[in-house]
Amino acid sequence: MTRLEEVRAEINALAQSSPAAEDLMRAMAKLLHHKMLKYNWVGFYMLEPGAQPPVLVLGAFEGAMTPHTRIPLNQGICGAAASSGQTVVVDDVLQDSRYLACSLETKSEIVVPVFSQGRVVGELDIDSHFPAAFTVQDQEFVQHCAMLVGKKLETAGA
Ligand code: SME
Repeated sequence: MTRLEEVRAEINALAQSSPAAEDLMRAMAKLLHHKMLKYNWVGFYMLEPGAQPPVLVLGAFEGAMTPHTRIPLNQGICGAAASSGQTVVVDDVLQDSRYLACSLETKSEIVVPVFSQGRVVGELDIDSHFPAAFTVQDQEFVQHCAMLVGKKLETAGA
C-alpha cells in the first residue's frame, strides 16, 4: 500500500465514524496535516450562510494561524475555487497574482470546492512549503476528501 492509499483508508474510516461534518472536518485536517508530509497547512473555508456578498469563513484548520479568516469570492485562490466550482492547483504561488499570502514559507497550494446538494458550500485548502507539491494523484485524493465532507453535510448535517 502506498502512503496515499493508507491515508485514504484512514480518511474513509473517519468519514464513517464522524457524527457530523464539523467533526469530520476537524479530524480530517488533523490527519492530513500529520500524515501527509508536504501538506503544511490544511484548512476548510465555508461560505457564510446568507451573507451578501458571499464570503468564505475560516473553519477547522491545522497549521499556523492565517491573517485570512474571511475571504470574499473575488479574492485569492480560495475565492477563485469557490466562485468557479473548480479545483485550483498552483505550483508556484508567487507567480499567481490571485494569491493571498498566508505564510512566507508557502510555495504551492491546492483548493478543492466542497459541494452539498449540488452547490458549493465551502472548500478544502492545502498549502505546501514545497513547490509543485500537488500531483494529479494528490488532486484526486484531496477531491475525494472534499467529496466525503460534502456527503457528510448531506447525510448528517454540519
Ligand atoms: N492562499 C489563500 C488564502 C488562504 S491561506 O493560504 C490559508 C488564497 O490565495 O486564497
